[in-house]
Amino acid sequence: MNLAAAPPALGSAPPLDPQAVLELDNVTKIYGGEPPVVALDSVNLTIGAGELVGIVGPSGSGKTTLLHVMGTLDRPTSGRVSLTGLDVAEMSERQIAALRATRIGFVFQNFYLAEHETVLENVADGLLYAGVGTADRRRAAAEALERVGIAHRAGFHPNKISGGERQRVAIARALVGRPAIVLADEPTGNLDSTTGANVLALLKELNAEGATIALITHDRGLAGRLPRQVEILDGHIVSDSTQMPDPDSAMNRGIEHGSPQGR
Ligand SMILES: Nc1ncnc2c1ncn2[C@@H]1O[C@H](COP(=O)(O)OP(=O)(O)O)[C@@H](O)[C@H]1O
Ligand SMILES: [Mg+2]
Repeated sequence: MNLAAAPPALGSAPPLDPQAVLELDNVTKIYGGEPPVVALDSVNLTIGAGELVGIVGPSGSGKTTLLHVMGTLDRPTSGRVSLTGLDVAEMSERQIAALRATRIGFVFQNFYLAEHETVLENVADGLLYAGVGTADRRRAAAEALERVGIAHRAGFHPNKISGGERQRVAIARALVGRPAIVLADEPTGNLDSTTGANVLALLKELNAEGATIALITHDRGLAGRLPRQVEILDGHIVSDSTQMPDPDSAMNRGIEHGSPQGR
C-alpha cells in the first residue's frame, strides 16, 4: 500500500498556531477492551521550533502511545493534534500519510534498517515519498551521513556496522528530508552507556544546528541532560520543566553551542 506517493496536499486545513511545530490539545487515548485502558488522559503539550524535549516516564505510563499520537501513527480518542499548524483530525488518511512522510522523522530503539540495502540506500529511503529523484536522494543521503559522522560507512550493509553506527544511520534517515520534528522512542535503549551517550551528544548537536527533537525515554538521568523535560505518569503530564521558548532564542542556542554542560 503506497498511500503517500503523491506530493503532500496540505493546503486545506487552516493554520492553528504557526509558532508551534507540534500541539496536543486535551488529547485522550483510550484502548478499547475489557476493561478499557486510558493510556493518555487530557494531555496538553506544545513543542516549538528548535526545541529538544525529553519525555520521561516509567514503563506503562503512556510514552509510546504519546509518540504514536504525536507522530500521526494513531489518532486520539478525543482532543486535537496539530502539526506545523495543521489539524490532523481534518485530514484524510492519505493527507496524514503525506504529512507524516514529509514533516516527521522517526527514530526507534531497534533502528529498523533494511538489512539488504546499503547504509546510503537506507538513508535515501527517508526521501522515498518526498517526490525527490534518485540522484538527488542519494546526494542528500550522502550529506546526511556526513552530518551524523559516518560518511565512511555509506557502502556498508547494516549488519557490518556497530549498534551506535546503526542508530546514526537511522538518525540520518530521519533527518534527510529536513522534517519539522524528529520523534525518537528510546533511541539509546539498545546501546551500551558510552555509545548511548555519543548518540545523545549527536542529537544535541543536530538540535543546536536547528533540528526540533522529542526524545522519549524511561531514563531520568538521560532526560535530565536535555534542555526541557516533560514527565508523564499514568497517561498524565505531571511536570514540564520549561515553557516553550520563542523561535529566535532557539536559533540563538545554535550559535551558542558549546557552552559548558558536562560533569
Ligand atoms: N494496543 C493496546 N491495547 C490495549 N492497551 C494498550 C495498548 N498499547 C498500550 N496499552 C496500555 O496503555 C498503557 C500505556 O502503554 P504505553 O503507551 O506502551 O506506555 P509506555 O511506552 O510508557 O510503556 C499501558 O497500560 C499499556 O498496557
Ligand atoms: Mg514504550
